Amino acid sequence: MIRRVAVVGAGTMGAGIAQLCAQSGFSVKVHDAVPAALGALPGRLRAGLETGVLKGKLTTQQAERAFHAVVAAPSLEELSGADLVIEAAPEDLKLKRELFVRLDALCPEAILATNTSSLSVAAIAEAARNSRRVLGMHFFNPPVAMRLVELVRGPKTSPEVFAAAWDFALTGLRRTPVDVKDTPGFIVNRVMRPYYLESQRRAAAGFAAVDQAARRLGGAPMGPFELMDLIGLDVNLAITKSLYEACGRPERFRPPQLQQRLVELGQLGRKAGNGFYSYREGRPEGENPRALALVGQGERISAEAAWRGIVAALIAEAVLVRDEGVAGVADIDTAVRLAMNFPKGPFQWRAENPSLDAR
Ligand SMILES: NC(=O)c1ccc[n+]([C@@H]2O[C@H](COP(=O)([O-])OP(=O)(O)OC[C@H]3O[C@@H](n4cnc5c(N)ncnc54)[C@H](O)[C@@H]3O)[C@@H](O)[C@H]2O)c1
Repeated sequence: MIRRVAVVGAGTMGAGIAQLCAQSGFSVKVHDAVPAALGALPGRLRAGLETGVLKGKLTTQQAERAFHAVVAAPSLEELSGADLVIEAAPEDLKLKRELFVRLDALCPEAILATNTSSLSVAAIAEAARNSRRVLGMHFFNPPVAMRLVELVRGPKTSPEVFAAAWDFALTGLRRTPVDVKDTPGFIVNRVMRPYYLESQRRAAAGFAAVDQAARRLGGAPMGPFELMDLIGLDVNLAITKSLYEACGRPERFRPPQLQQRLVELGQLGRKAGNGFYSYREGRPEGENPRALALVGQGERISAEAAWRGIVAALIAEAVLVRDEGVAGVADIDTAVRLAMNFPKGPFQWRAENPSLDAR
């Protein structure tokens, strides 16, 4: 039974996970190696909880209780006694492994979870003497708003540990867990790669035209180009590069020249004022001429044809994920729907549009 939760790392994800656990009624200890990060935690929590109250998700009393349920732990040793430790330290294998060596000794009874997005859970778990109690709990940003949690089975994760983590996510935190094998990109970062890569291969159809087709034909809240601008072209490219390497450099995941060039030019998206679109005071003002110039005169296809190509590639990746035994059909659809706020998942699209099936 999980009652006491510990979170390692008080950054974007750690603070959000701590808030989610606290407002779900758990007592939470949070450790960060950087004193300033721990010092900023109460302010972050207050701001997050106040937003929850303003949105009507929490009462003032619930927010107050949640605020006091979180305790800062200046040393890692203070986390001993936790039933579950969720590690949300920087995405660095060496650092995470060092943490798991220490957590393994400090918390001999706890379930140890990593929030890694792109590292191998097995490689992190090996650092613990008992890797049966290690798994991935991949939350999405921001954890209080995003319902999806990818629960990642390492090769040695025990069924009991997985079941306890599942129950914690589902019942304790009221999230929607999905069951995924420890493979590069898990479900979402892998199945959604074609959204970004195939759209760039079809960029001659026009950024705005493709985005509009994604919204109109796919019901997507954001088209691929506007979404990459929001995420940051550099952040998005780093995920592509990591997946490309981890999967053995398959052609379909090759990082696109267009995006690489834009990143080199500092055209990083919304945060830089220019990406696929140009922005003034945070608002898009049309396609970025420098990005358009890089597209050149590619094969002219309609936005509808571009969109159908993107969806076909997305379905093909989803089919591969299923065939490789990474996750089941229902979990793939659920993960894509919840992570992207799409009305449907790839297998539902396939069922409705058999002509989009690339296989
Ligand atoms: N940001 C996202 O959108 C997102 C989404 C899902 C998963 N993730 C994953 O979550 C993890 C954390 O990401 P983030 O965006 O919160 O990073 P972040 O940089 O905002 O926070 C990391 C925190 O860890 C602290 N830290 C550094 N070394 C430490 C150590 N040795 N022990 C304890 N704390 C230490 C830092 O001071 C910092 O406060 C990464 O593995 C990342 O891949 C991030």
